[in-house]
Amino acid sequence: MTKHTVVGGSVVEELLQHPDLYHIRALTRDPSKPAATALTARGVEVQYADLDDTREALAAAFTGAHVIYALTDFWQKQSSSAEIEQGKTIADAAAATPTLQHFIWSALPDPVALSGGEFLNVHHWKGKSLVTEYIETRKPDLWERTTTILFPNYFENCLTIPDRYLPTKDGAGRYTLRFPHSPKTVMPNVAIADTGKLVHIILEAGPVYLTKTIAFWAQALSEAEKLAELGNHYNVPTRYVPASASEFQEILMTQNRMSEEIALDFTEQLMIFEKCGNVYARDEFVQAREIPGLSLQTWSEFICKHKLLDQA
Ligand SMILES: NC(=O)c1ccc[n+]([C@@H]2O[C@H](COP(=O)([O-])OP(=O)(O)OC[C@H]3O[C@@H](n4cnc5c(N)ncnc54)[C@H](OP(=O)(O)O)[C@@H]3O)[C@@H](O)[C@H]2O)c1
Repeated sequence: MTKHTVVGGSVVEELLQHPDLYHIRALTRDPSKPAATALTARGVEVQYADLDDTREALAAAFTGAHVIYALTDFWQKQSSSAEIEQGKTIADAAAATPTLQHFIWSALPDPVALSGGEFLNVHHWKGKSLVTEYIETRKPDLWERTTTILFPNYFENCLTIPDRYLPTKDGAGRYTLRFPHSPKTVMPNVAIADTGKLVHIILEAGPVYLTKTIAFWAQALSEAEKLAELGNHYNVPTRYVPASASEFQEILMTQNRMSEEIALDFTEQLMIFEKCGNVYARDEFVQAREIPGLSLQTWSEFICKHKLLDQA
């Protein structure tokens, strides 16, 4: 594991709690890294695999699997075509795995369809949605065994990307956060550490969630209310300052050193919630919050578990 729980790590952690049910194989580009050797020591089979490799190489890594949990990481290459290629390779290799019973695909929704054609630059959503479409239309046998999970804003972004998701402290000790949202605009949020619990429930439910798309979120919260709660918890003054889309894109380019294209991608994903509301709550998706037995962390609980502000 890295310092903070990632999606794959959360799934492994949860399934390790059920050694009678699951034998886990974790795929990584570097089986010798400390996170991988720590898993080996706990009985996980760790194998080398690179999503940029051939379908045959990936299919070899999938040999004998009954369940495959798969995700692509747009941010490594920041290239939609590369992410789509990786996703299709995963799907092709999964479809060629005769033992496979359940394919769980970690995705994002189609930003163009959800926004009625308004947002055309959210490449890290669009690429994943095109892979989902590829599975449904081109790999129907695999689709019959597929559950798609749509991921929302992670609470853990505050830990992994603090300079973008946490407020900054000024000389007077006040914490300011800027986001391209009105104080009332909500986004779906979840603790990514809860992914494993969802995956375990999906697997235990057998056919219930096959061909379904699950919107995985615990709470719809505005960044302004998250900030206010953080301020209350640490007993410090806070200030939420909405930014326009163009101001926010500029901040990403100057402070976070994003390219113009990637800053636009990132800003537009946020503007979908500003302009279209909480699109994850739509009826077309199974709502994780309504899945029996699935208890998801709240922002208040997350704040209590992690040190988010350094008050020194
Ligand atoms: N942050 C958010 O709020 C949010 C919300 C919704 C969706 N997402 C999506 O989540 C994805 C990132 O997932 P994460 O947060 O779990 O990221 P992460 O913690 O950085 O983990 C990404 C994993 O992908 C593996 N990986 C990357 N490229 C690979 C390749 N070529 N071959 C094999 N493995 C590869 C890496 O494994 P090794 O290094 O061990 O090989 C790494 O463990 C992105 O696509 C993003 O769009 C993020």
